[in-house]
Amino acid sequence: MSAPAAEAFGFTYRFEPAVAGAQGEDLTILALHGTGGDEHDLVPLARALAPGAAVLSPRGQVLEGGAPRFFRRLREGVFDLADLAARTEALGDFVDGAADRHGIDRGRIVAVGFSNGANVAASLLLRRPGSLAGALLLRAMVPFEPETPPAPGAVRPVVTIAAGLMDPLVPREQAERLATLLRSAGAEATLELVPAGHQLTQRDLAIGQALLARLSGGPGARDAPRR
Ligand code: MLT
Repeated sequence: MSAPAAEAFGFTYRFEPAVAGAQGEDLTILALHGTGGDEHDLVPLARALAPGAAVLSPRGQVLEGGAPRFFRRLREGVFDLADLAARTEALGDFVDGAADRHGIDRGRIVAVGFSNGANVAASLLLRRPGSLAGALLLRAMVPFEPETPPAPGAVRPVVTIAAGLMDPLVPREQAERLATLLRSAGAEATLELVPAGHQLTQRDLAIGQALLARLSGGPGARDAPRR
């Protein structure tokens, strides 16, 4: 049975516990919806990516004409950087608080973000590099250009950026620049170019499943030699 939405740490959110015995049960997916979505939107995607993973799914706090978002923008693709910085910190604090409340392993949180949700996940990776074990960034842009190179955190997040080759909102150079920035922040970032627009396809699902399967396993499993 799915959990109802809860309120905590300034966010409305949904939490689905891990499913024992199912693939990815050691992970928690931090699900971050696109503009106009809510805390329910990406739960089916998260389940399809890793059926056993717990899902922590907040709703963006900003409303744009009634559409929830994770931070304000001035217009399409032009972000309110002060708001982005503050909202990113608030999201990081929410994750910390929710981890304590729900007994989530802080070292096994993987963000799955779409569009605006991918952008705030990228911002979190640049501001708090050690806060995520990995991330699937679906149709992400560069959220902001850091003034100084971000200091790599203690963990090395494994990140896949899935960019749409025909995406009218996100030019390919944005995804390439984001991969470079994330690498400079200590992430292992891979850019996948998908023959698609802004909307997701089966190929995105397959790319995400491969990432989640890689991140699932015992401590250090992802670095173990492959046979
Ligand atoms: C953003 O505002 O984060 C991007 O333009 C993507 C979107 O339309 O949500």
